[in-house]
Amino acid sequence: MRLASCALLPLNDRGEAQRPYNLIRRPKADDRVGKSIDSTANSQSGRVAELTLSMAGLDEPHGIAMIKTGLYRLEQLSSSAKTRGFFGGTRRVSVTLYEKLDGMKEAQEWAEQILFSYCDARGIYKRTYACRFDQFDDMAIDRLGQAFPASRTLTMHDIGVSDARTACDLFHKLAARFPHLNYYASDYEPSLMMLRSGKGRTVVTLNKKGEAIEIVVPPFVFNLIKPENFLLYPVNYVVFLFARATVLRRALAKYRAGKIKPSPLVLFCPAARDLAASDSRFHLLEYDLLKPHTLPCRVDVVRVMNVLNSSYFDPQQLSIAVGHIFESLAIGGLLIVGSNDAAGSEVRGGIYRKLSQGFQELAKSGADHDAHRTIVGFAATQRDGV
Ligand SMILES: C[S@@+](CC[C@H](N)C(=O)[O-])C[C@H]1O[C@@H](n2cnc3c(N)ncnc32)[C@H](O)[C@@H]1O
Repeated sequence: MRLASCALLPLNDRGEAQRPYNLIRRPKADDRVGKSIDSTANSQSGRVAELTLSMAGLDEPHGIAMIKTGLYRLEQLSSSAKTRGFFGGTRRVSVTLYEKLDGMKEAQEWAEQILFSYCDARGIYKRTYACRFDQFDDMAIDRLGQAFPASRTLTMHDIGVSDARTACDLFHKLAARFPHLNYYASDYEPSLMMLRSGKGRTVVTLNKKGEAIEIVVPPFVFNLIKPENFLLYPVNYVVFLFARATVLRRALAKYRAGKIKPSPLVLFCPAARDLAASDSRFHLLEYDLLKPHTLPCRVDVVRVMNVLNSSYFDPQQLSIAVGHIFESLAIGGLLIVGSNDAAGSEVRGGIYRKLSQGFQELAKSGADHDAHRTIVGFAATQRDGV
């Protein structure tokens, strides 16, 4: 089922669209919203005022909602209507359901919704959609066809893939053109751990550093990184403070004492995991773009979609990331960069070729991407070891 694209709706500070969420006619949001208000300066200017209001949580459509329960059991995902809070707003779907979705109706849409509101400990979202930038992919494949003979082995690193559904989309198209393909799809922190206690009813989700991200205390789902606005949801806020002081503290103490065994939660989608298991050309990895690459060789192509945004990285971090990409590419290799909103929405991006001293722009889509100036202004030094 394809999701209809629709106009951008204002979001509040939890990344929620300001109307009851409808799973089928989903408001597809700008991934750049949420980390910092400054990011909006680069986006459509008309949204700045809207976002300032909404990030202050003052434009909830249904007045003071007081309380909002969450969705934390698979049976609760029987209908999209369940996401609407009784008093308005959107009920949070627990990230702990992500791995259980396989085989259920509309699993793909529910996974997208979980990733829509999930953010890591730095506040960065993992929003992604199937077939998100098909047209841009087609343009990129044409460029790759011009740059590299189909008979050669093409090594590609797709960075910041979230659950890798967009990597699967590109892999299948690319493999038809380049049969000798080596495709690495990586993301920052793709695996988490869950601590279940209270007969499995309460669940604390931690990242690998042991930082708590979410607490499920039925009937509530609390995100510790972006909690509910206490003015709008005072009941949630009181229970949240209690859960953080008791449930979380106890779970962490038991975990540290070895009394609770964590269960893993992997945020790569089943299609990507199956592909990695069945096709030796496709690999899933963990990778942080702010660290040097760890692949065994330099690659022919790096793709970074909806990652190199000014809302995620400050100018210095963007330069570091671009430097690492430069180091990881072979001379003549291509960098594919872009950002967009809904699946099928226009991509602001470009394709660049690595030369010995820096990058040369080869193709462009839409307006300048946030990282464009950093990429074209990048000057290789001896240290980059070309
Ligand atoms: C908005 S999602 C984009 C996902 C996918 N590329 C797409 O376009 O649908 C941003 C992704 O960037 C990843 N990310 C954030 N910081 C990163 C870093 N330092 N290194 C690698 N990936 C990072 C996040 O984990 C997240 O999956």
